[in-house]
Amino acid sequence: MDKPSNIETMLDGLVTLPSLPTTVARTMQMLDDPDASLQDIGKAIAQDPSLSFKSLRLVNSAFYALRDKVNSVERGVVLLGIKVVRNLVVTASVFETFKGGEASLLRHAVACGTAGRILSKSAGAAITDGNEAFMYGLLHDVGKIIIQQNLPKEWKQIVTHVGDGRFSAHEIEHRVLGTDHAQIGGLLGTKWKLQEDIVGAIAGHHDLSRCATPQQRRRAAFVGVCDWIAYQAGYPAIAGTAVSENPAIWQESNLDPEQMAPAIEELTASQSSIDEFISLAA
Ligand SMILES: [Fe+2]
Ligand SMILES: [Fe+2]
Repeated sequence: MDKPSNIETMLDGLVTLPSLPTTVARTMQMLDDPDASLQDIGKAIAQDPSLSFKSLRLVNSAFYALRDKVNSVERGVVLLGIKVVRNLVVTASVFETFKGGEASLLRHAVACGTAGRILSKSAGAAITDGNEAFMYGLLHDVGKIIIQQNLPKEWKQIVTHVGDGRFSAHEIEHRVLGTDHAQIGGLLGTKWKLQEDIVGAIAGHHDLSRCATPQQRRRAAFVGVCDWIAYQAGYPAIAGTAVSENPAIWQESNLDPEQMAPAIEELTASQSSIDEFISLAA
């Protein structure tokens, strides 16, 4: 495996990792600051029109299931609390990144997030908070969008090979680029100063050896299973992808394979909420 520093050098000049907008970065800092009040955080978000607009749309979507409509970000922050707001801010930022992404990549990401929400209720789940599990799924393949947007020629090559159905996307990416979307996504997470658990889960969702702690391994395995469920329910990131089962991921996930058939069924039946979420990204 390449060392992250080598990958960074290799990617330098090839791929530009999008920056987190300053307001978002400041809001994230405040979310980590125990002295910052919910009101302060609400005000910081409200200063960024695009972030507050997206946040309000998300807050009022079926995903957060609030009884009353929320009209101000400040009110939304107080209602939802810090943990949910952190997810919301990251989600809104991911949407900015996804904007130029291929439709199938976005659908796959939202489907994987929805699978996370479904599996978070299962016995043995590494992530039991549905909103948090959704964010992990939404983010896991963000590296593919970065490849698609920065390296269109190589991406075309990757998509063609993936369509042959013989090798998985990350294996082909390694041949074409010398790295893969999970590593690139992990680098983006580090650049955005996301929590280490989520960075580890993104980087390790196809290869648990990239995780730094047992908690990261469990979470990466959880995301790996969500990914598998998304493919089974008909939401591939790239059409024709060969889906192989990774025994290490299944074992580490601690999820009961018996529970997967109902989870796939529930995800298949979630199409309208997946579409609703995608329309929020527009
Ligand atoms: Fe992936
Ligand atoms: Fe995926």
